[in-house]
Amino acid sequence: MRKNIVAGNWKMNKTLQEGIALAKELNEVLANEKPNCDVIICTPFIHLASVAGLVDAAKIGVGAENCADKESGAYTGEVSAAMVASTGAKYVILGHSERRAYYGETAEILKEKVKLALANGLTPIFCIGEVLEEREAGKQNEVVYSQLAGSLYDLSAEDFSKIILAYEPVWAIGTGKTATAEQAQEIHAYIRKTIEDRYGKEVAENTSILYGGSCKASNAKELFANPDVDGGLIGGASLKAADFKGIIDAFN
Ligand code: 13P
Repeated sequence: MRKNIVAGNWKMNKTLQEGIALAKELNEVLANEKPNCDVIICTPFIHLASVAGLVDAAKIGVGAENCADKESGAYTGEVSAAMVASTGAKYVILGHSERRAYYGETAEILKEKVKLALANGLTPIFCIGEVLEEREAGKQNEVVYSQLAGSLYDLSAEDFSKIILAYEPVWAIGTGKTATAEQAQEIHAYIRKTIEDRYGKEVAENTSILYGGSCKASNAKELFANPDVDGGLIGGASLKAADFKGIIDAFN
C-alpha cells in the first residue's frame, strides 16, 4: 500500500547553523512520537551531510531540493545525484515549479535528473502543477499530464514505482491560497488515473501523491482526508518545528 508522507521543502532558507538547530528541534519533537506518516525534510545542499548525520533516520528522511542533470565533470557550481547520496540523503525534489520557472528546467532536463537520481539510489519527489492562467482556462489536467508524460512515463514500471509525486498548483505556493480539498482530490484522482492508464492499477494504487501549496496545520487534515491525497510537500510551514509537527499530526 502507498505511504502517507509529510515532506518539508526548506527552499533557500536557513544558514547552516539555523538548519542544524531546526533539524535537532524536529528530531527532539518526534523523539517520543510514532508519526502515522513518513517524515522527510529537504534542505539546501550544504545542510545535507550535517542534517543527515544528526536526525534519527528511522523517523526522519533527508532529501535535497535539486540535483544536476549531468553525472560529473566540468559543471561549475552543480551538485550531482551521487554527491547528494553520499551525504546520507535518500530523497531529492525534482521539477519544483520554482526550478522550472526561474532556472529553465525543461521536461527533457528533468528526465535526465530523474534517471541520475534513480541510478544513485535516491527517491525523486517529482513536482507537477499548473499556473493560475492554466487553471483559469481549465487546462490543469492537460498541464500535469504533459509534465508527467514528458519526464516520467518513459520509465519502466519498476523505476516509476520508486517515485513520489507532488501536485503543487503554482497559484497556491507561498500565496496563502490553498487548493480546496475538492480541487485537490479531483486532480489527484486524475493523476492517479493517468498512472493507471500507463502502468496499471497496482502501480497507480501504490504511488504516493502529495499536495503542496500553502498547506498548514489548519488545513492539512481536510486536504489529507481525501482518498487520493497521500500527504503534503510543505514550504513555509516546514521552517518551524511546531508548525511542521502540526501538519504531521494531521495523520493522527
Ligand atoms: P508553501 O507551503 O510555502 O506554499 O510552499 C509549497 C512548496 O512549494 C513546497 O515545495
